[in-house]
Amino acid sequence: MDYDQSANYIANRISGRSLPMPRTAVVLGSGLGKMAEHIADALVIPYADIPHFQCPTAVGHRGNLIIGFLDGTPIMAMQGRLHYYEGHSMEQVTFPVRVFARMSIRTLLVSNAAGGVNPSFRVGDLMVITDHLNFMPNPLIGPNKDAFGPRFPDMTYTYSPRLREAADSIAQELQIALHHGVYAAQTGPAYETPAEYRMYRTLGADAVGMSTVPEVIVARHCGMEVFGMSVITNQASDLKDGVVNDADDVVRQADAAADNMTRLFARLISIA
Ligand code: HPA
Repeated sequence: MDYDQSANYIANRISGRSLPMPRTAVVLGSGLGKMAEHIADALVIPYADIPHFQCPTAVGHRGNLIIGFLDGTPIMAMQGRLHYYEGHSMEQVTFPVRVFARMSIRTLLVSNAAGGVNPSFRVGDLMVITDHLNFMPNPLIGPNKDAFGPRFPDMTYTYSPRLREAADSIAQELQIALHHGVYAAQTGPAYETPAEYRMYRTLGADAVGMSTVPEVIVARHCGMEVFGMSVITNQASDLKDGVVNDADDVVRQADAAADNMTRLFARLISIA
């Protein structure tokens, strides 16, 4: 099967470099790819080299799978993800997650750039995702892939309470401020209208973005433990006069916040 061909290719490249097989994978969102610079002994595999992997076209997304060590822990990082708005199917967007499942990845850490709809959030803040609201097509629609998981997967404990608690302790130790909140996912590529931002806030969202939820649903279907974090790149709670949403600005703000997220993820991975 396609998943196995991709998994075998990656596993062969890893053993060719005598690296250990990671048990944790990280998806690095818009502007957050620079965490990959901290990965030691890095084996960099362009997605273009991996059978069946699609290449990202989105701004701030590089398209490399990077295997190595983050503060001594083996890790596999996606430097850039695929988005539904690029025209990829949900199967393509979530394909790498199922490949990870085939490679016995047990924990998935996901990150993204998001608009803050909670009025107390500021640009550059970090938010631990506690739950989500999905306004995208569900990636599990279609015949169930029984080899990966059940037809009707439970979504009660989607964002691991254990890892959220651990993140809180680590953040306290590192003196990194964290929000906690609900991430709403819409397809994009258009940013929200002011009325839509108000709607998401009314519905209980704290942040809104165009990614993450498809990968998370598939990871949970596969039985992985999931941790998610949003970097707030724009204050979407109340669009001020003259303020417009701009993708380059989103990537710039995410890049500035990436260091704190990297420090936190490095410690979290060590206990994942
Ligand atoms: N809306 C949707 N996606 C986003 C935003 C936003 O305001 N900011 C960064 N990604």
